[in-house]
Amino acid sequence: MERLNVALLGAGTVGASFLKLLSERRERFQALAADVALTGILVRDPSRERPEWVPKNLLTTDAEAVLRDAEVVVELMGGVGRAFELVEYALGEGIPVITANKHLLAEAWDDLRPYAEDGMLYYEAAVMAGTPAVEILSGALRGNYPLEVHAVLNGTTSYILSRMEAGHSFGEALAEAQAKGYAEADPLFDVAGIDAAHKLAVIARLVADPEFPWEEVRSATRGITGLKAEEVMRAADAGTPIRLVASLYGEGGRWRAAVRPVKVPAGHPLATPGVQNALLFRGDAVGEVVLTGPGAGGVATAGAALADLVRLIEGYPGHSPVPAPVPAPAAPFTALEELG
Ligand code: NAP
Ligand code: HSE
Repeated sequence: MERLNVALLGAGTVGASFLKLLSERRERFQALAADVALTGILVRDPSRERPEWVPKNLLTTDAEAVLRDAEVVVELMGGVGRAFELVEYALGEGIPVITANKHLLAEAWDDLRPYAEDGMLYYEAAVMAGTPAVEILSGALRGNYPLEVHAVLNGTTSYILSRMEAGHSFGEALAEAQAKGYAEADPLFDVAGIDAAHKLAVIARLVADPEFPWEEVRSATRGITGLKAEEVMRAADAGTPIRLVASLYGEGGRWRAAVRPVKVPAGHPLATPGVQNALLFRGDAVGEVVLTGPGAGGVATAGAALADLVRLIEGYPGHSPVPAPVPAPAAPFTALEELG
């Protein structure tokens, strides 16, 4: 049995769920000949109330102590400030990192890309939570030339729109999404479309161009804050519910990105209910592939981070971007009905 020292950064919604799943799955790791041992759990406030399964004796604010003997870092704290410092330090020391932090991946990519190319970064949990998208886009679908991707990538906005369709107010629905652990620490990232844009940037680098610039995605991003309740209900009643759709498509031989509210025909895979996400990939060989499942939530997301830990223990490298830019189609394949 090999002991594997894991440093956990963060014990919030996802981190606490990760600890629960880890403790429930000890035997599965032992079957892989790995005895996972935590070096510590980095938090901001060790005295905060947490679920009973979180080992209180391991909570600390001392990052140095947590990282000292780490062989793997699991980063579930979020943001680009302290998280970036710690992730960059670990990678620089040759320690692989598992992360659910799409913000970091999208905006600090220039620094992180060399490590991703070396297979040291695992980030299934960063896109569509527990619904596998990263591994499939960077693996099974790589035999295709990608033609387009359209996806509902933010669970909070889908949840809010679904609830507004049922007559609830924006504020009420957002509060529910926060209580369920779907929203970002700053929910403006969800409702302004930034979180979906972060995930789209990750996808663009997996399928189209390893250097796809974050700025290009950000500047083509609009969220759901401008939508009126009547507009959301009217669209749903007319059989075209509004969803925040992130798209990667070709135009004039260039890859373009966009995140904006779209009217989706009812029954279309992107007309997702509740917190559900969906991703439609069109490739030249396979045609249309749809991935769908939960897109947010502590347990669903923790399951993906745990899968990355299994992947690492089994000796597989992390998720690498597409090795070189892929030619973009001359024109979009699908016309979507965008809102003004
Ligand atoms: P969260 O509930 O806010 O938890 C963040 C954790 O990190 C907390 O334990 C917090 O400590 C700790 N932390 C934050 N900043 C810190 C700092 N500067 N120093 C030390 N500890 C710090 O967030 P979450 O929802 O679990 O999300 C974690 C990550 O997963 C984010 O990158 C998020 O985007 C991503 N993600 C979340 C979901 C979801 O559904 N929630 C899904 C997919 C991906 P305290 O507990 O002491 O405050
Ligand atoms: N806040 C994010 C969402 C969490 O609602 O989709 C999952 O990445």
